[in-house]
Order: sequence, then structure tokens, then C-alpha cells
Amino acid sequence: MRWLAVSQQGTRVGTVVRVYADRVFVAVSERELPRVGVRGRFLKIETRAGRTLIGMVTQLELQDELYRHARGRIDIIEQYEKLALSRNELVVSLIGTLNSDGTVERKIDIYPAPGDRVYVMSSEELRRLFGDGDVRIGVLNTDPSVEVRLNLNELATKHVAILAMTGSGKSNTLAVLLTRILKLFPYARILLIDTHSEYVNLAREDSPIKDKVTVYCPIEKFREMLRQQGIDARPLEIPYWLLTIEEWYSLLGLDARATKQRRILRTALRGLKRKLAGERVRLNDPVFFEVEALHVSISRMGRDSAVEDLLMKLEDALESDEYAFVLQPTQLIHLRSVKGDRAVVEYFLTELMLKPGLKIIALGGLSSDIQIAVVSMLLRTVFRLAVEAKLAGVPLPTIIAIEEAHLYAPQSHYPPSRHIIERIAKEGRKFGIGLIVISQRPRELSETVLAQCGTLIALRTVNPSDQRHIQNSMEDIMSALALSLPGLGTGEAIITGRAVKIPCIVKVDFFDDVIEQEFGRRIGLSGKDVDFRALWSREPDEKSFSEVLNRLFPILANAESQQKPEEERREEKRDAPITRFFGA
Ligand SMILES: Nc1ncnc2c1ncn2[C@@H]1O[C@H](COP(=O)(O)OP(=O)(O)OP(=O)(O)O)[C@@H](O)[C@H]1O
Ligand SMILES: [Mg+2]
Repeated sequence: MRWLAVSQQGTRVGTVVRVYADRVFVAVSERELPRVGVRGRFLKIETRAGRTLIGMVTQLELQDELYRHARGRIDIIEQYEKLALSRNELVVSLIGTLNSDGTVERKIDIYPAPGDRVYVMSSEELRRLFGDGDVRIGVLNTDPSVEVRLNLNELATKHVAILAMTGSGKSNTLAVLLTRILKLFPYARILLIDTHSEYVNLAREDSPIKDKVTVYCPIEKFREMLRQQGIDARPLEIPYWLLTIEEWYSLLGLDARATKQRRILRTALRGLKRKLAGERVRLNDPVFFEVEALHVSISRMGRDSAVEDLLMKLEDALESDEYAFVLQPTQLIHLRSVKGDRAVVEYFLTELMLKPGLKIIALGGLSSDIQIAVVSMLLRTVFRLAVEAKLAGVPLPTIIAIEEAHLYAPQSHYPPSRHIIERIAKEGRKFGIGLIVISQRPRELSETVLAQCGTLIALRTVNPSDQRHIQNSMEDIMSALALSLPGLGTGEAIITGRAVKIPCIVKVDFFDDVIEQEFGRRIGLSGKDVDFRALWSREPDEKSFSEVLNRLFPILANAESQQKPEEERREEKRDAPITRFFGA
């Protein structure tokens, strides 16, 4: 086959043999197959009408023609090695039209026809296409000399979804993007809902970007743990009097079946607020009240079992350390009593919106009901502030990144956080709020949110239902690419949508390398996989387990240390707290 002609188009590698809708079948020689038959390879098709089209190899179709025609003949099978003559076709998805100045238009006016010549796109041409963005995410999987940059404005205003199964590189991708954004834009404003406190290392004392990162952690015990790792986390308090009724339901774990308890809470809360601020007050109006007064107000609602259950839930919450930051926000109550209601909202405005940099809301360790209430309240506040700021002519552009977004905006039910996240997905653009949602369960994520994401970064996904969801949110012509989702390697991503000129498969940079390249010092994310091989190969350090127990039951650790001399304490430390705690 004499296809290997070199023209100004580059090296010719094949010929169009069939066209079906947006898919073009390109025959290539045996010799070219290993080089061009790679998923994600970009090809140029010279149409007879003089247009050059761009396509991407999405599948291969290889068939042994000789064998097919002659498989009945036994000598063919015996001689197979020598005879094999295959039909090699690349299945190419058309992406757009290449202009003579190297730019691409995402439209196809003229379809190719059998006989049209096909060329490989050169690295130079690809570099021109993909290098024209702001934030580098990685390199093309088919050509590591081509870096891929995302357009910041498209990324921030039209929202992004990072989807994949667990362990395939979502958090790494987000960390790479955030680090580079912080490097490029000194006044970038990013709020990160860090469900498992995975990103806190960015603020560690040895992190080169610690000045640009603030960690907020609502629970003192976890702040102390972070402090021991060299991370100075600020407390985060949530004013319970600013919660909506839906957030109260979530906070106290009143699901949709608890209709009686929900009604009682609603009536008690409304009654209390009206008593304090007049009959015209509505249920969700921000009226300050003492949390104990809510307890009284509920207890006056009668003596039936629903009232009792609700009171118990409130009492349990009031006693729990986990709820203290929302039900006993002492600093905010103090701030309010000294400076008034407005100061509380100002606190959120200053901390979450005005201050530039990355603000990590570290929610690791909190139960999901509380996480949902916190996220809902924070995002509601941020959204309201952003709307007012924009209307007042002083926009505060902010990116909100949400890890495990399916927990806060699930498709199957309506926690309060889903309302506000869907609202931001639909209206955020107008007010300068961009969303980045990350999820390992695309099928469980709100379809409204997913449909609003203009850019999709999809890493390895094997679950067929997740694949379908990802496929549905890709542009039509690229849905063939979704077939490659299970075969992607760790850190390999299909990127489609607005932030790239044309869809592509990228090898995402590795965060540890990125931070070293950009800032000269290496740190890793936390939340890496536990290294079983290493940990099972050495004896565990028993001393650290008594530390574990002290953290679990600090009150017992303190009692121990007050009562016993050092020697005895060391003897008993390992088992005493457990037996005492569980009453054995
Ligand atoms: N681009 C990459 N290059 C090299 N290694 C990577 C890359 N992306 C991820 N990894 C490795 O894969 C591991 C898992 O990555 P990551 O934590 O980002 O996955 P994830 O999709 O966020 O997982 P989870 O769903 O559990 O949160 C990391 O420990 C990291 O070392
Ligand atoms: Mg992750």
C-alpha cells in the first residue's frame, strides 16, 4: 500500500472508507496502525471540497479479511502466520473544521467521503490548539509534548464536573487546578467543601502556598489533631439562628418520614420568633433567640411521643461536642451581643468572600446530617452575598468546589444543600459564582447540577450506570469517547466542553510534582491510600495507640493522668480506658 506520502499536510496515514453520521471509518496500513491506532489521536481529513476536518480516534475495528473469506480451508489455518492480511479501520469521531490559521470551529458543514486523505495532526498544530488557555491541567495522552490548558473564564463561569470512580485521580485533578489558579491569580477566591479533610496539607507549615490557604474546622478536637500535624486551622462557627427550617431538619436528623416532629419544630420555631420580633416575622427570617428558649417552646407543644422524641433529639444535640459549633457558637453570640446582628453576617462576608485565597472548609469526621446543614447554610450565605455584591456593582467572583457532591446534591432526595447547589448551578454565572463538583457516583448526583456543568472532566469509570450518566452529559458527538472510560489509567481524563477548544484525553499532572515545579517545594495531599504492604511488613508502634485512645476519650485520659503516678499509668494505659468506657 503506497499511502506514505508527505505533503504540507504532514504524513498521510490513511484513507476514508466509510462515513456514518459523525463517525468516519479510516483505513490505515499495518505499518501505521501502531502509531495512529491510539485512542485520543487527532487526525486531519482533507475533504475534496477543500475543507480540513479534525477528528479523534475513538475506536478500532480490525478484521482479518483473508481468514474471513477462507476460514473453511484447513491449509489457511495452518499457514495463518504467514498469510494474515487484515482490514484495519480507525473509527474517528468528527470534532470540527480546521481553519488555515490553525484555529478550530466546532462545526462541520461538509462531510468527508470515501477516498478522502487522512493525516496525523502534528505536535506543533496541537500545541497551538491546546496551549491557548490559562490553567495547565496536564498533557495529551497521545503526545506528551503538547500541554493542555483550560480557559479560566469558561471554567469558572460555566461550571465543571470532575467525575470518576474512587481512586482514579479526582482529588489530584482538583488540587492541580487549584494550585495553578492560586499561582496565576493573586486575588483568586475559592471556597472548598472538603468532606474528608483531604486538602488540609496545603496549609501545613511547610507548604509553599500556606499564605494563600486558610483551613476552617468546626470541631476543637479535630483542630487539635490538625495542629499536631502543623496545620493551623481556624474555628468555624455557624449561627443556629440563621438556619432555615430545612437546615434544622437536617441538623436534628428529621428525615421526610418524621412529619409530626417536623411540624412541631416548625410551629415552635415560628412561635418563638414571632414572640421575639412580632407577628409579621416569617419562619426563616434571621431572628436571634436563645437555643434554650427553643427547647421551652417545643416542650409547650404538648406531651405526646413526637414532642418527647423531638426534645430528646435537641437535648442530645445540645450535649454533643459535635454540635457545639452550631448550637453553642459562643464567639458569634459574643460578637452579636457586642456589635449587633449585622456583625455576624459581616464575619461571613469577610472570612469567606472578601479575603482572597483558598478557603478550605474541613468537614472530615462530622456526621453527614451536620455536614449537609453546614454546607447549606454556608453556600446560602455566600450566594446571597455574591448576588448583592454583583447588584451593587462590586462583584466578588468566587469558585465553590465541592468534594463528594452527590452527598450534598443527590438526585434521589432533597436535603437543603441540594436546593442551594442547584440554584448556584443555574444562576451562579450571572453573579460570578462558579461551581466545581466532584463525585465518585455520577448516577447519584443531581441531574440539574450535572446538566449545568459546561466542562466535564471524566476519569476512569467502570460502573455502566455511571458511564451512561457521564455519556449523557457529554456533547453528542463525543459520546463515543465514553466507551473508553473503563480503560483509562489513573490520572487519565477525558475533557469535553467549554474550557477546552476541542475534547481530548489528558494525562493529568501529578499534584506533588506540580507544587514542586510551581513553588519549589514538594508536599503531598493527605487522604492517600493506606500502604498495606509497608504497614503489614513492620511491627505497629504500640505507643501511638494509647494516643489514639486519648483522642477518642480525652476525658478519661485526663482523669487517668490526674490520678495515677507516671509508672502505673504506663502499665494501664492500653486497656483501662476501654474497659471503663464500655463498663466491662
Ligand atoms: N495524575 C496522576 N498522576 C499520578 N498519580 C496519580 C494521579 N492522579 C492520582 N494519582 C494517584 O492515585 C491515587 C488516588 O488519587 P485521588 O485521591 O486523586 O483519587 P480520587 O478519585 O479522588 O479518589 P476518591 O474517590 O477515593 O476520593 C493518589 O494517591 C495518587 O497518588
Ligand atoms: Mg478524592
